[in-house]
Amino acid sequence: MSALKKLIQLISTAAFVVFFFFLSKLNTEGFSRGKHRVGKNEEVFQDRSAWSAPGRDGSISEIRGSLDAAASSSSSYIHPGVPKLLDSTYSRVMVIPRLQSDNISWVSDELHDVDTAVYIVNDPWAALHPPKNKGHEVMIYLSYIINHYDTLPDILIFMHAHRWTHHNNALLAYDAVETVRRLKSDYVTREGYVNLRCHWSPGCPEWLHPANSQESLEKQEEILLSKCWNELFPSDPLPTALGQACCAQFALSKERVLSIPLSRFIFYRDWITRTPLSDYVSGRLWEYSWQFIFTGRSIYCPAEHICYCGGFGLCFGGASEFEAFEELRRKKQNLQLETNELLEGRSSERGTDLESHRSNASAVRYAYLNSQIEILEQDLALRKEDAFKRGLNPRNRAKECGTRWKETGGL
Ligand SMILES: *[C@@H]1O[C@H](CO)[C@@H](O)[C@H](O)[C@H]1NC(C)=O
Ligand SMILES: *[C@@H]1O[C@H](CO)[C@@H](O)[C@H](O)[C@H]1NC(C)=O
Repeated sequence: MSALKKLIQLISTAAFVVFFFFLSKLNTEGFSRGKHRVGKNEEVFQDRSAWSAPGRDGSISEIRGSLDAAASSSSSYIHPGVPKLLDSTYSRVMVIPRLQSDNISWVSDELHDVDTAVYIVNDPWAALHPPKNKGHEVMIYLSYIINHYDTLPDILIFMHAHRWTHHNNALLAYDAVETVRRLKSDYVTREGYVNLRCHWSPGCPEWLHPANSQESLEKQEEILLSKCWNELFPSDPLPTALGQACCAQFALSKERVLSIPLSRFIFYRDWITRTPLSDYVSGRLWEYSWQFIFTGRSIYCPAEHICYCGGFGLCFGGASEFEAFEELRRKKQNLQLETNELLEGRSSERGTDLESHRSNASAVRYAYLNSQIEILEQDLALRKEDAFKRGLNPRNRAKECGTRWKETGGL
């Protein structure tokens, strides 16, 4: 063997030793990810705190009973924020992803006391656009946080571009304008994270069971989440269930965002950018991850009446009063379904011998149903009016939400 060959052997052995030494060192430091490209900068993530949960090591001074009961996570570490004095104003920004084709004039026409950040996802020349059109709203929400981490408003509102959708609350007329107008900043400040949809279905009390081994068409993201969980949340065990109200529209307090290091948001966005998963699925995975990121709970399902009262000032007085209202609303919906069926039946019966007789019977029923619907509508409207009146008083809101009322202000 020539001296040269020996030398090469020696050098390569030494290189291996050094390489494995560093590799083991990286692992013992819990840092196994290496480099992540972030925009044009190559950033090395050495900050383990980037993956630790918000406020986990602090003391839990005060936790809302209602939320506690709804949470399945044993490691609850919500720290309620402290709202400002009564009558203080809060700076608010609405963050909205839109397509070039979406008409969102409703935002500037109807909402004057909230700033907006509207990202056009499919126009790289727009003033605001994401670095890559991937991951649906997730890319936009994360980009806003990343770009404004040092200048965040008091309240961040993340919403979709459509004004009327089932994503919004039935009792607020499914209207995004009503949702934003009525959203209580003191509640968002206190909660830190508020899903803008109060109704549990779909999404609560449990939605995804990531350990499910069977693929479900309705929940394609279920199995994928179990595969991606370790990449996204390496220091947290895979939860048995994840749940929150659907649809990925929520509000955050500045404080809650800042309790999570910027590097973690950059990491998440980087993950979206790089994952080989499709645009659709990579976005869907997040619909049931937001609550985990911002509350540390795999399940976040506040009682519906608390969400309506604290969140939007629609206070029926308690759980049973809210349920009574919902029962009436369901009754009305059923009557409406029946009138629709009668209308359809009438048109299909035309031409038969029994026509006049049957039509008369159904006409009578139809008139009766409509009168009942009208009575219910009036009842519902009155109850709602009362509920909004009750919700004007912050003391009532605090009572219904089970929070201690402070004379100096806020919940
Ligand atoms: C956008 O919608 C508003 C109603 O909200 C309508 O008045 C306006 O004409 C629409 N604009 C376009 C370009 O379609
Ligand atoms: C239709 O019903 C009304 C009231 O129930 C009745 O007075 C009337 O005679 C009926 N007409 C026919 C054509 O059956």
